[in-house]
Amino acid sequence: MGKIYVFDHPLIQHKLTYIRDVSTGTKQFRELVDEVGSLMAFEITRDLSLEDVTVNTPVGPSTSKVIAGKKLGLIPILRAGLGMMDGILKLMPNVRVGHVGLYRDPDTFEPHEYYIKLPKDIEERDLIVMDPMLATGGSAVAAIDALKQRGASNMKLMCLIAAPEGVGEVQKAHPDVDIYLAALDEKLDEKGYIVPGLGDAGDRLFGTK
Ligand code: URA
Repeated sequence: MGKIYVFDHPLIQHKLTYIRDVSTGTKQFRELVDEVGSLMAFEITRDLSLEDVTVNTPVGPSTSKVIAGKKLGLIPILRAGLGMMDGILKLMPNVRVGHVGLYRDPDTFEPHEYYIKLPKDIEERDLIVMDPMLATGGSAVAAIDALKQRGASNMKLMCLIAAPEGVGEVQKAHPDVDIYLAALDEKLDEKGYIVPGLGDAGDRLFGTK
């Protein structure tokens, strides 16, 4: 069974409060999601392995640590996942990015794949799959399915807010995938929105409605 990590860092929790607030406008919403993306990436990469290298400081040689040549990949689920991407790229600017495009049928809530473009060596990479809202879990499960069908085997799922229903679906379908969250909310409403959540993450990020 995949593990669930809810990041309780005060900066993440503080910023998440303003992300949730309906009076937060598009510009600030985007900036806050970007910042929380960075802060979550900081936590989620805690287990990256290090190796020793020697550099010369102005004073003499120093044996210091660098991240061992692990191949990583970021996979934003379009479109709302894009909002978390830049915050992570600021910390890891060389990481490769793949895209999975899914839309949710407004009546059935079923996800449909309309676009996928991945780094060629996807099977060698440790992936961080991103979607701000883990609601029914349908999109996340479908995205992870699509990645596994193309050879990916090692991934983490990173979301801002999840509903228990979505967490359960991912755990059931993909017990090998750990889930990283800023908050685990109460439930879904009848329209598939997370309660209390933050509304439609894509609309709030891109100023659409
Ligand atoms: N997608 C969103 O953007 N918000 C929700 O509450 C659920 C799914």
